[in-house]
Amino acid sequence: MNTPTYLDYGATTPIDRRVLSVMLPHLESTFGNPSSLHYWGQQAERVLDESRQTMAELMGALPSEIIFTSCGSESDNLALRGGALARREAAGCNRILISPIEHPAISNTAAQLATQNGFVIETLPVDSTGRILLEEMKIRLGADVALVSVMAANNEIGTLNPIPEIGSLCREHQIPFHSDAVQYGAHFPVDVSNLPVDMVSLGAHKFYGPKGIGALYVRSGTPLVPVQTGGSQEFGLRAATENVPLIAGMAKAFQLVQEEGSQRIQHLVPLRDKMIRDVLKNIPGSRLTGADPDSRLPNHASFVFEGLDGNLLIQVLDSEGYACSSGSACKTGDPKPSSVLTHLGYTPDWALGSLRVTLGKDTTRKAVSRFLEILPGCVQRVREADQ
Ligand SMILES: Cc1ncc(COP(=O)(O)O)c(C=O)c1O
Repeated sequence: MNTPTYLDYGATTPIDRRVLSVMLPHLESTFGNPSSLHYWGQQAERVLDESRQTMAELMGALPSEIIFTSCGSESDNLALRGGALARREAAGCNRILISPIEHPAISNTAAQLATQNGFVIETLPVDSTGRILLEEMKIRLGADVALVSVMAANNEIGTLNPIPEIGSLCREHQIPFHSDAVQYGAHFPVDVSNLPVDMVSLGAHKFYGPKGIGALYVRSGTPLVPVQTGGSQEFGLRAATENVPLIAGMAKAFQLVQEEGSQRIQHLVPLRDKMIRDVLKNIPGSRLTGADPDSRLPNHASFVFEGLDGNLLIQVLDSEGYACSSGSACKTGDPKPSSVLTHLGYTPDWALGSLRVTLGKDTTRKAVSRFLEILPGCVQRVREADQ
């Protein structure tokens, strides 16, 4: 069997060889604990410091503002939980505002902060593509808001949010603002010297880096308490012996995003636009979910098909040699429609038939064309199987 075609880069990406080659020596020879005072410790500490310096320079930040974590989810947890608890301690604020279509790393953390810590969680109104409505947001800001968290780009429907405008509103009210840029930062520069954000989450495996490593940018002075307590690593904000090989890999992968990002986008956008155009034209009962091409992730095409089981479609596509994903919560059995699509007003008849196709820097035009040739027949087969 031929290797299937990977069209699920929003889920994760393969590691770039150049990243791997940076990591390998640190898996072997630079094995020391960066906190140790001897030769081995100093070697590891040097790699850690250089990697932090690289991340900071590329983001327009100070090295002391970069906290390495284990993944995007952990960065989100630290920002939301650590930020909310610190703000309540400092200023007594009890409300947390989030977008209604956040990744579960934010929405489930917020839910736990409500049930276990008594915070009041409010979701901000969005338009039909998932973008925050700024005027609506404005009237919800106040001195009792502990934190605002709005994702820069949605993983499921690809919509980009107006982060500079949201951040400016938060600044006016002196409310700390966190943005989950796990998807956004895989494509676009994140220059915090020009952006009114206080915390930003990143995850390396979305941009051809290794899994198991993420970062949280924390602007100096932002109230934050550690969620993982123990030693004083990461400026006292995240206890654990740092994973030096993964950290070095993340810094290299992030550097490549900055160097090659615009070239990658130039490659991705025409493929994504062809995907959107052809699907909407050739498949009856199909709709694009999320924003128009000019305000969505450059590699992201997401659809709903009326009267179709999206999970079954994923299985049929897999058997045809294409790896994609659907927005449904479960893999098999009794799938629930995605909460993102339901929130945006899609009825179950549409929302259950979701498909997300996310392209990568090595996706070819030929692969996209071949996929577009077989997709209408697969949709038809799944619809017939459902009847
Ligand atoms: C927007 C967003 N936030 C957070 C995460 C969680 O990242 P990780 O898988 O690194 O924990 C993801 C992963 O899909 C994501 O897309």
